[in-house]
Amino acid sequence: MRILAIETSCDETAAAVVEDGRHVLSSVVSSQTDLHASFGGVVPEVASRAHLELLGPIVAEAMARAAVSPGDLGAVAATIGPGLVGSLLVGASAAKAYAWSWELPFVGVNHMEGHLHAAFLEEPELSLPIVVLLVSGGHTMLICMQPARRGGVEYRLLGQTIDDAAGEAFDKVARFLGLGYPGGPAIDKMAREGSATAVAFPRGLAGQGYDFSFSGLKTSVVRHVRAHPEMSLADVAASFQEAVVDVLVTKARRAAAEVGARAICIGGGVAANSSLRERIATVARDDGLVAFVPSRSMCTDNAAMIGATACYRLKVDGPTPLGVPVDPNLRLPFV
Ligand code: KG4
Ligand code: ZN
Repeated sequence: MRILAIETSCDETAAAVVEDGRHVLSSVVSSQTDLHASFGGVVPEVASRAHLELLGPIVAEAMARAAVSPGDLGAVAATIGPGLVGSLLVGASAAKAYAWSWELPFVGVNHMEGHLHAAFLEEPELSLPIVVLLVSGGHTMLICMQPARRGGVEYRLLGQTIDDAAGEAFDKVARFLGLGYPGGPAIDKMAREGSATAVAFPRGLAGQGYDFSFSGLKTSVVRHVRAHPEMSLADVAASFQEAVVDVLVTKARRAAAEVGARAICIGGGVAANSSLRERIATVARDDGLVAFVPSRSMCTDNAAMIGATACYRLKVDGPTPLGVPVDPNLRLPFV
């Protein structure tokens, strides 16, 4: 079963062809970062117009690279939420149109479920339960993926951010430090030149359950820089990154111990962060767990993860009716 999958929930226009939910025959991602950089963030209207222009060629390229024609496909899938409503509409409407005209089933996919399944594309033998730290520009969640009683997998939400998402904190602090957009990669790079112990920034909600808070940290960085304008930006970046990574890793580790997980996984754009990748691998090794750190391209938004999830959803739920709306606030089906 080959699925053509489309992902346009934010500022990446992506299409992929995935076979049997496991083998990525092609995955094409076109990032609009440069288009939005001068605005300091994603401009929703600009994003949807760019998706509209790029999507046809990107789908054609994904089909060509996989060497498939519509007759070789078993379904067409697209992200239907969460995300920017205009962006979601472009990808979902196109996927429905392809499905209808090629007489194939359509599968609507939750973007966050896609991030959860991304790990399995690179590590199909991961055994459940696993704890997944999902950290992106819009979300910060600690989730337990566990076997469902009726077969398949179910998701239990252990904790989430009560204010800013981790990626949002990186983006806001980077903007304040004048490092541009997107902030995460800029801070990651600058932090390599600085000392992570230069400033002891606060660890929000440390020691309390599995929820996260990053807005106090951001305020603390602003106050510190205003009070010490002479301080090296690299030290500030490294110390800020350390505060975020420390709290993420500490909670993921504690959660893994509590639920008896066999592996810790990371996903979402912030999972591309070098320090987070190293630290998760280290603590998992120390605790005798498998650390699953997907490649950077599988952590950030892509359509291969949507194709993998679509294959699973098609088996469990069957096709999605073409009348399904996109939902900018779509939630994961937690147990
Ligand atoms: O998952 P994603 O590509 O898009 C969604 O938000 O769904 O995540 C984007 C976020 C941005 O906030 C970006 O700054 C952050 O991921 N990010 C990083 C790194 N690369 C991307 N944060 C920290 N370190 C990085 N290397
Ligand atoms: Zn994402």
